[in-house]
Amino acid sequence: MPGYTAAMNERLGALMLRRVPEQPKQPLRAWDAADELVLSHLDEVPLAAGARVLLVNDAFGALTCSLRSFNLVVINESSAGRAATAQNLAANELEPIDVYSMLDLDAEPATAESFDLVVIKIPKATAHLDDLLYRLRPLLHAETRVVGAAMVKHLHRSATESLETLVGPATASLAKKKARLLHVIVDEELEVGEKTWPQAWSARGHTLLNHGGGFSPSGLDSGTAMLLDTVTDFAAMLPHDVSGNVRAVDLGCGNGVIGLRLAQDLVASGRMVSIEAIDDSALAIEATRASWEASTVDERARLTVHHQHRMIESLGARSVDLIVVNPPFHDDRVVGDHTAWSMFTDAHKVLRGGSSLIVVGNRHLGYHAKLAKIFGSAEVLAANKKFVVLRAVR
Ligand SMILES: C[S@@+](CC[C@H](N)C(=O)[O-])C[C@H]1O[C@@H](n2cnc3c(N)ncnc32)[C@H](O)[C@@H]1O
Repeated sequence: MPGYTAAMNERLGALMLRRVPEQPKQPLRAWDAADELVLSHLDEVPLAAGARVLLVNDAFGALTCSLRSFNLVVINESSAGRAATAQNLAANELEPIDVYSMLDLDAEPATAESFDLVVIKIPKATAHLDDLLYRLRPLLHAETRVVGAAMVKHLHRSATESLETLVGPATASLAKKKARLLHVIVDEELEVGEKTWPQAWSARGHTLLNHGGGFSPSGLDSGTAMLLDTVTDFAAMLPHDVSGNVRAVDLGCGNGVIGLRLAQDLVASGRMVSIEAIDDSALAIEATRASWEASTVDERARLTVHHQHRMIESLGARSVDLIVVNPPFHDDRVVGDHTAWSMFTDAHKVLRGGSSLIVVGNRHLGYHAKLAKIFGSAEVLAANKKFVVLRAVR
Protein backbone atom coordinates (compact mmCIF):
# COMPACT_ATOMS: atom_id res chain seq x y z
CA MET A 1 0.00 0.00 0.00
CA PRO A 2 1.65 3.28 -1.07
CA GLY A 3 2.40 5.69 1.80
CA TYR A 4 2.13 2.98 4.47
CA THR A 5 5.02 1.44 6.38
CA ALA A 6 4.68 -2.17 7.45
CA ALA A 7 5.39 -2.24 11.18
CA MET A 8 7.26 -5.52 10.93
CA ASN A 9 8.47 -5.76 14.49
CA GLU A 10 7.70 -8.18 17.28
CA ARG A 11 5.23 -5.88 19.06
CA LEU A 12 3.26 -4.21 16.31
CA GLY A 13 2.99 -7.36 14.21
CA ALA A 14 2.43 -6.73 10.54
CA LEU A 15 0.30 -3.61 10.87
CA MET A 16 0.36 -1.19 7.96
CA LEU A 17 0.70 2.30 9.42
CA ARG A 18 1.06 5.82 8.08
CA ARG A 19 1.17 9.36 9.37
CA VAL A 20 -1.28 12.15 8.57
CA PRO A 21 -0.28 14.57 7.16
CA GLU A 22 2.16 12.71 4.99
CA GLN A 23 5.59 14.28 4.70
CA PRO A 24 7.01 12.87 1.49
CA LYS A 25 10.56 14.07 2.15
CA GLN A 26 10.54 12.80 5.75
CA PRO A 27 8.88 9.39 5.81
CA LEU A 28 8.84 9.19 9.61
CA ARG A 29 7.39 6.07 11.16
CA ALA A 30 3.86 6.28 12.53
CA TRP A 31 4.86 4.76 15.89
CA ASP A 32 7.73 5.02 18.36
CA ALA A 33 9.63 2.83 20.80
CA ALA A 34 7.34 4.00 23.63
CA ASP A 35 4.41 2.35 21.79
CA GLU A 36 6.42 -0.86 21.52
CA LEU A 37 7.23 -0.70 25.24
CA VAL A 38 3.52 -0.35 26.12
CA LEU A 39 2.72 -3.45 24.07
CA SER A 40 5.64 -5.37 25.53
CA HIS A 41 4.36 -4.50 29.05
CA LEU A 42 0.89 -5.76 28.10
CA ASP A 43 2.47 -9.04 26.96
CA GLU A 44 4.13 -9.39 30.35
CA VAL A 45 1.09 -8.35 32.42
CA PRO A 46 -1.86 -9.23 30.18
CA LEU A 47 -5.24 -7.58 30.33
CA ALA A 48 -8.42 -9.54 30.98
CA ALA A 49 -10.55 -10.03 27.86
CA GLY A 50 -13.10 -7.22 27.65
CA ALA A 51 -11.01 -4.91 29.89
CA ARG A 52 -11.98 -1.24 29.64
CA VAL A 53 -8.98 0.61 28.25
CA LEU A 54 -8.46 4.36 27.82
CA LEU A 55 -5.80 5.42 25.34
CA VAL A 56 -4.72 9.07 25.35
CA ASN A 57 -2.59 10.86 22.71
CA ASP A 58 -1.93 7.84 20.50
CA ALA A 59 -0.49 10.06 17.77
CA PHE A 60 -1.36 8.12 14.59
CA GLY A 61 -3.36 5.20 15.98
CA ALA A 62 -0.64 2.51 16.22
CA LEU A 63 -1.73 1.51 19.75
CA THR A 64 -5.40 1.89 18.83
CA CYS A 65 -4.91 -0.66 16.03
CA SER A 66 -2.99 -3.02 18.35
CA LEU A 67 -5.55 -2.83 21.20
CA ARG A 68 -8.69 -2.64 19.07
CA SER A 69 -10.05 -5.96 20.42
CA PHE A 70 -10.41 -4.53 23.96
CA ASN A 71 -13.25 -2.31 25.20
CA LEU A 72 -11.35 0.73 24.01
CA VAL A 73 -11.93 4.47 24.47
CA VAL A 74 -9.58 6.79 22.57
CA ILE A 75 -8.79 10.43 23.32
CA ASN A 76 -6.91 12.41 20.70
CA GLU A 77 -7.30 16.19 20.36
CA SER A 78 -5.77 16.38 16.89
CA SER A 79 -7.86 16.35 13.72
CA ALA A 80 -4.86 14.97 11.79
CA GLY A 81 -4.30 12.32 14.48
CA ARG A 82 -7.95 11.28 14.26
CA ALA A 83 -7.71 11.05 10.46
CA ALA A 84 -4.54 8.92 10.77
CA THR A 85 -6.23 6.64 13.30
CA ALA A 86 -9.27 6.15 11.03
CA GLN A 87 -7.06 5.46 7.99
CA ASN A 88 -4.80 3.05 9.86
CA LEU A 89 -7.75 1.10 11.28
CA ALA A 90 -9.26 0.84 7.80
CA ALA A 91 -5.93 -0.16 6.20
CA ASN A 92 -5.70 -3.04 8.66
CA GLU A 93 -9.36 -4.05 8.25
CA LEU A 94 -10.15 -3.15 11.87
CA GLU A 95 -13.45 -1.69 13.12
CA PRO A 96 -13.64 2.12 13.09
CA ILE A 97 -13.73 3.84 16.49
CA ASP A 98 -15.15 7.11 17.85
CA VAL A 99 -12.36 9.39 19.07
CA TYR A 100 -13.00 11.84 21.90
CA SER A 101 -11.44 14.94 23.45
CA MET A 102 -10.42 15.04 27.10
CA LEU A 103 -13.15 17.69 27.39
CA ASP A 104 -15.65 14.85 26.80
CA LEU A 105 -14.43 12.88 29.84
CA ASP A 106 -17.35 12.22 32.11
CA ALA A 107 -19.71 13.96 29.69
CA GLU A 108 -20.20 11.36 26.96
CA PRO A 109 -21.71 7.97 27.95
CA ALA A 110 -18.69 6.18 26.40
CA THR A 111 -16.23 8.10 28.57
CA ALA A 112 -18.19 8.26 31.81
CA GLU A 113 -17.40 4.82 33.29
CA SER A 114 -14.19 3.98 35.14
CA PHE A 115 -11.27 2.27 33.38
CA ASP A 116 -9.17 -0.87 34.05
CA LEU A 117 -6.15 0.42 32.15
CA VAL A 118 -5.21 3.96 31.15
CA VAL A 119 -2.31 4.46 28.75
CA ILE A 120 -1.16 8.05 28.34
CA LYS A 121 1.41 8.97 25.73
CA ILE A 122 2.84 11.84 27.78
CA PRO A 123 1.95 15.18 26.11
CA LYS A 124 4.56 17.82 25.50
CA ALA A 125 3.16 20.41 27.92
CA THR A 126 2.83 19.57 31.62
CA ALA A 127 -0.17 21.91 31.73
CA HIS A 128 -1.82 19.54 29.24
CA LEU A 129 -1.09 16.53 31.47
CA ASP A 130 -2.36 18.39 34.56
CA ASP A 131 -5.60 19.35 32.80
CA LEU A 132 -6.09 15.76 31.58
CA LEU A 133 -5.39 14.16 34.97
CA TYR A 134 -7.84 16.42 36.82
CA ARG A 135 -10.55 15.38 34.39
CA LEU A 136 -9.53 11.73 34.49
CA ARG A 137 -9.22 11.31 38.23
CA PRO A 138 -12.94 10.64 38.96
CA LEU A 139 -12.79 7.74 36.45
CA LEU A 140 -9.87 5.98 38.17
CA HIS A 141 -10.19 3.46 41.00
CA ALA A 142 -7.62 1.70 43.18
CA GLU A 143 -7.37 -1.22 40.71
CA THR A 144 -6.89 0.96 37.58
CA ARG A 145 -3.47 0.48 36.01
CA VAL A 146 -2.19 3.86 34.84
CA VAL A 147 0.78 3.78 32.47
CA GLY A 148 2.54 6.85 31.09
CA ALA A 149 4.78 6.28 28.05
CA ALA A 150 7.32 8.53 26.37
CA MET A 151 10.70 8.71 24.74
CA VAL A 152 13.29 9.40 27.45
CA LYS A 153 14.39 12.69 25.84
CA HIS A 154 10.82 14.01 26.21
CA LEU A 155 10.15 12.68 29.69
CA HIS A 156 10.77 15.52 32.10
CA ARG A 157 10.59 15.38 35.88
CA SER A 158 7.50 17.62 35.71
CA ALA A 159 5.47 14.80 34.10
CA THR A 160 6.27 12.43 36.96
CA GLU A 161 5.45 15.19 39.45
CA SER A 162 2.13 15.82 37.73
CA LEU A 163 1.22 12.08 37.86
CA GLU A 164 2.29 11.82 41.51
CA THR A 165 0.41 14.96 42.54
CA LEU A 166 -2.80 14.09 40.73
CA VAL A 167 -2.93 10.27 40.62
CA GLY A 168 -0.48 8.57 42.99
CA PRO A 169 3.04 7.13 43.35
CA ALA A 170 4.85 6.62 40.01
CA THR A 171 7.70 4.21 39.26
CA ALA A 172 9.82 4.53 36.13
CA SER A 173 10.62 1.39 34.11
CA LEU A 174 14.07 0.70 32.75
CA ALA A 175 14.65 2.49 29.46
CA LYS A 176 14.43 0.37 26.32
CA LYS A 177 15.29 1.74 22.87
CA LYS A 178 15.37 5.19 24.53
CA ALA A 179 11.74 4.88 25.73
CA ARG A 180 10.41 4.54 29.24
CA LEU A 181 7.13 3.78 31.02
CA LEU A 182 5.83 5.34 34.22
CA HIS A 183 3.67 2.93 36.25
CA VAL A 184 1.31 4.85 38.50
CA ILE A 185 -0.67 3.48 41.45
CA VAL A 186 -3.99 5.26 41.95
CA ASP A 187 -4.18 6.75 45.44
CA GLU A 188 -7.88 7.30 46.06
CA GLU A 189 -7.17 9.27 49.25
CA LEU A 190 -4.86 11.80 47.55
CA GLU A 191 -5.72 15.46 48.20
CA VAL A 192 -5.39 17.03 44.75
CA GLY A 193 -6.15 20.67 45.55
CA GLU A 194 -7.93 23.15 43.33
CA LYS A 195 -8.38 22.48 39.60
CA THR A 196 -6.01 24.81 37.74
CA TRP A 197 -7.42 24.53 34.17
CA PRO A 198 -9.08 25.95 32.16
CA GLN A 199 -7.88 29.48 32.79
CA ALA A 200 -9.38 32.73 31.53
CA TRP A 201 -7.36 35.92 31.22
CA SER A 202 -7.78 39.22 29.41
CA ALA A 203 -5.71 40.49 26.52
CA ARG A 204 -6.40 43.30 24.06
CA GLY A 205 -9.82 43.89 25.56
CA HIS A 206 -10.97 40.28 25.11
CA THR A 207 -11.57 37.52 27.64
CA LEU A 208 -9.65 34.47 26.47
CA LEU A 209 -10.28 30.96 27.69
CA ASN A 210 -7.42 28.46 27.66
CA HIS A 211 -7.21 24.73 28.27
CA GLY A 212 -3.96 23.30 29.61
CA GLY A 213 -3.19 21.64 26.27
CA GLY A 214 -3.74 24.80 24.23
CA PHE A 215 -1.10 27.04 22.68
CA SER A 216 0.48 29.62 25.01
CA PRO A 217 -2.16 28.90 27.68
CA SER A 218 -0.86 31.33 30.33
CA GLY A 219 -0.61 34.54 28.30
CA LEU A 220 -0.59 36.17 24.88
CA ASP A 221 2.20 34.82 22.63
CA SER A 222 4.80 37.45 21.75
CA GLY A 223 4.52 36.71 18.01
CA THR A 224 0.74 37.14 18.12
CA ALA A 225 1.19 40.35 20.12
CA MET A 226 3.53 41.71 17.44
CA LEU A 227 1.03 40.80 14.71
CA LEU A 228 -1.82 42.57 16.51
CA ASP A 229 0.37 45.64 17.11
CA THR A 230 1.59 45.77 13.50
CA VAL A 231 -1.77 45.58 11.75
CA THR A 232 -3.63 48.44 13.41
CA ASP A 233 -6.78 47.89 11.31
CA PHE A 234 -7.44 44.53 9.61
CA ALA A 235 -10.14 46.18 7.44
CA ALA A 236 -7.30 47.95 5.62
CA MET A 237 -6.05 44.51 4.51
CA LEU A 238 -9.26 43.77 2.55
CA PRO A 239 -9.41 44.13 -1.25
CA HIS A 240 -10.90 47.49 -2.28
CA ASP A 241 -13.88 45.94 -4.07
CA VAL A 242 -15.06 43.75 -1.18
CA SER A 243 -18.83 43.80 -0.60
CA GLY A 244 -20.79 44.50 2.60
CA ASN A 245 -20.31 40.87 3.72
CA VAL A 246 -16.81 39.76 4.62
CA ARG A 247 -15.56 36.24 5.25
CA ALA A 248 -12.28 36.08 7.19
CA VAL A 249 -10.30 33.15 8.60
CA ASP A 250 -8.61 32.84 11.99
CA LEU A 251 -6.34 29.97 10.93
CA GLY A 252 -4.87 27.94 13.80
CA CYS A 253 -7.17 29.85 16.12
CA GLY A 254 -5.81 28.66 19.52
CA ASN A 255 -7.82 30.63 22.08
CA GLY A 256 -9.49 32.74 19.37
CA VAL A 257 -7.66 36.01 20.03
CA ILE A 258 -6.96 36.82 16.37
CA GLY A 259 -10.54 36.14 15.26
CA LEU A 260 -11.90 38.41 17.99
CA ARG A 261 -9.69 41.27 16.73
CA LEU A 262 -10.70 40.54 13.13
CA ALA A 263 -14.37 40.71 14.11
CA GLN A 264 -13.82 44.02 15.91
CA ASP A 265 -11.97 45.71 13.04
CA LEU A 266 -14.15 44.38 10.22
CA VAL A 267 -17.44 45.27 11.96
CA ALA A 268 -16.05 48.77 12.63
CA SER A 269 -15.61 49.15 8.86
CA GLY A 270 -19.42 48.84 8.54
CA ARG A 271 -19.61 45.28 7.25
CA MET A 272 -21.37 42.04 8.21
CA VAL A 273 -18.63 39.61 9.18
CA SER A 274 -18.27 35.82 9.14
CA ILE A 275 -15.23 34.57 11.04
CA GLU A 276 -14.16 31.02 10.26
CA ALA A 277 -11.98 29.73 13.12
CA ILE A 278 -9.99 26.63 12.22
CA ASP A 279 -7.71 24.51 14.36
CA ASP A 280 -6.28 21.00 14.39
CA SER A 281 -6.85 20.80 18.16
CA ALA A 282 -10.26 20.12 19.70
CA LEU A 283 -9.05 22.03 22.77
CA ALA A 284 -8.46 25.14 20.64
CA ILE A 285 -11.88 24.86 19.04
CA GLU A 286 -13.62 24.73 22.41
CA ALA A 287 -11.40 27.51 23.80
CA THR A 288 -12.27 29.77 20.85
CA ARG A 289 -15.97 29.10 21.25
CA ALA A 290 -15.70 29.91 24.98
CA SER A 291 -13.60 33.06 24.38
CA TRP A 292 -16.25 34.37 22.01
CA GLU A 293 -18.98 33.64 24.54
CA ALA A 294 -17.01 35.40 27.29
CA SER A 295 -16.10 38.45 25.19
CA THR A 296 -18.49 41.16 24.05
CA VAL A 297 -18.76 40.61 20.29
CA ASP A 298 -20.87 42.82 18.05
CA GLU A 299 -23.88 40.94 16.70
CA ARG A 300 -22.86 41.78 13.13
CA ALA A 301 -19.99 39.26 13.55
CA ARG A 302 -20.74 35.54 13.39
CA LEU A 303 -18.35 32.74 14.39
CA THR A 304 -18.14 29.30 12.74
CA VAL A 305 -15.57 26.83 14.13
CA HIS A 306 -13.95 23.99 12.20
CA HIS A 307 -11.99 21.20 13.86
CA GLN A 308 -9.80 20.56 10.84
CA HIS A 309 -6.15 20.20 9.81
CA ARG A 310 -6.66 21.14 6.14
CA MET A 311 -8.48 24.44 5.64
CA ILE A 312 -9.42 23.51 2.07
CA GLU A 313 -11.54 20.63 3.41
CA SER A 314 -13.80 23.09 5.28
CA LEU A 315 -13.79 26.17 3.05
CA GLY A 316 -14.32 26.24 -0.69
CA ALA A 317 -11.81 27.46 -3.24
CA ARG A 318 -11.72 31.26 -3.72
CA SER A 319 -14.27 31.82 -0.96
CA VAL A 320 -12.60 34.10 1.63
CA ASP A 321 -11.48 37.73 1.82
CA LEU A 322 -8.74 37.58 4.46
CA ILE A 323 -6.71 34.90 6.30
CA VAL A 324 -4.59 35.60 9.38
CA VAL A 325 -2.27 33.02 10.93
CA ASN A 326 0.53 32.47 13.43
CA PRO A 327 1.50 29.00 12.12
CA PRO A 328 2.71 26.19 14.38
CA PHE A 329 6.34 25.27 13.83
CA HIS A 330 6.07 21.80 15.26
CA ASP A 331 3.58 18.91 15.15
CA ASP A 332 3.58 17.73 18.71
CA ARG A 333 7.32 17.14 18.97
CA VAL A 334 8.42 17.16 15.36
CA VAL A 335 9.85 20.57 14.54
CA GLY A 336 9.48 21.77 10.96
CA ASP A 337 7.67 24.00 8.54
CA HIS A 338 5.50 21.40 6.80
CA THR A 339 2.30 22.54 8.53
CA ALA A 340 2.99 26.18 7.66
CA TRP A 341 3.69 25.13 4.09
CA SER A 342 0.36 23.28 3.78
CA MET A 343 -1.44 26.23 5.42
CA PHE A 344 0.08 28.62 2.84
CA THR A 345 -0.77 26.40 -0.14
CA ASP A 346 -4.34 25.95 1.11
CA ALA A 347 -4.59 29.72 1.71
CA HIS A 348 -3.64 30.33 -1.90
CA LYS A 349 -6.53 28.09 -3.00
CA VAL A 350 -9.09 29.46 -0.54
CA LEU A 351 -8.50 33.22 -0.99
CA ARG A 352 -10.39 35.24 -3.60
CA GLY A 353 -8.28 37.13 -6.13
CA GLY A 354 -6.84 40.33 -4.56
CA SER A 355 -7.31 39.01 -1.00
CA SER A 356 -4.53 38.73 1.59
CA LEU A 357 -2.86 36.19 3.82
CA ILE A 358 -1.24 37.83 6.87
CA VAL A 359 1.39 35.74 8.67
CA VAL A 360 3.56 36.17 11.75
CA GLY A 361 6.45 33.80 12.30
CA ASN A 362 9.93 33.33 13.65
CA ARG A 363 12.43 34.98 11.31
CA HIS A 364 14.59 31.87 11.01
CA LEU A 365 11.71 29.88 9.46
CA GLY A 366 12.05 31.73 6.15
CA TYR A 367 8.30 32.19 5.56
CA HIS A 368 9.03 35.13 3.25
CA ALA A 369 10.65 32.86 0.64
CA LYS A 370 7.87 30.26 0.95
CA LEU A 371 5.12 32.84 0.48
CA ALA A 372 6.96 34.39 -2.46
CA LYS A 373 7.19 30.95 -4.07
CA ILE A 374 3.45 30.28 -3.67
CA PHE A 375 1.99 33.80 -4.12
CA GLY A 376 4.65 35.33 -6.40
CA SER A 377 5.71 37.92 -3.79
CA ALA A 378 5.37 38.80 -0.11
CA GLU A 379 5.57 42.14 1.67
CA VAL A 380 7.31 42.58 5.04
CA LEU A 381 4.94 44.60 7.25
CA ALA A 382 7.25 44.53 10.30
CA ALA A 383 10.31 42.70 11.59
CA ASN A 384 12.28 42.55 14.81
CA LYS A 385 15.11 40.28 15.99
CA LYS A 386 12.77 37.34 16.54
CA PHE A 387 9.62 37.73 14.41
CA VAL A 388 8.50 38.91 11.02
CA VAL A 389 4.97 39.94 9.96
CA LEU A 390 4.25 39.29 6.27
CA ARG A 391 1.46 39.92 3.79
CA ALA A 392 0.93 37.90 0.61
CA VAL A 393 -1.78 38.89 -1.86
CA ARG A 394 -3.59 36.29 -3.97
C1 LIG B 1 1.22 29.26 17.05
S1 LIG B 1 -0.39 28.68 17.51
C2 LIG B 1 -1.38 30.14 17.29
C3 LIG B 1 -2.63 30.18 18.13
C4 LIG B 1 -3.41 31.50 18.14
N1 LIG B 1 -3.81 31.87 16.82
C5 LIG B 1 -2.56 32.59 18.74
O1 LIG B 1 -2.08 33.42 17.98
O2 LIG B 1 -2.39 32.60 19.97
C6 LIG B 1 -0.80 27.65 16.13
C7 LIG B 1 -2.13 26.94 16.20
O3 LIG B 1 -2.29 26.17 15.01
C8 LIG B 1 -2.92 24.95 15.32
N2 LIG B 1 -2.65 24.00 14.24
C9 LIG B 1 -1.66 23.09 14.13
N3 LIG B 1 -1.73 22.44 12.95
C10 LIG B 1 -2.80 22.94 12.30
C11 LIG B 1 -3.42 22.68 11.04
N4 LIG B 1 -2.91 21.78 10.19
N5 LIG B 1 -4.52 23.38 10.68
C12 LIG B 1 -5.04 24.31 11.53
N6 LIG B 1 -4.50 24.61 12.74
C13 LIG B 1 -3.41 23.93 13.12
C14 LIG B 1 -2.37 24.59 16.68
O4 LIG B 1 -3.23 23.67 17.36
C15 LIG B 1 -2.30 25.96 17.36
O5 LIG B 1 -3.49 26.26 18.06
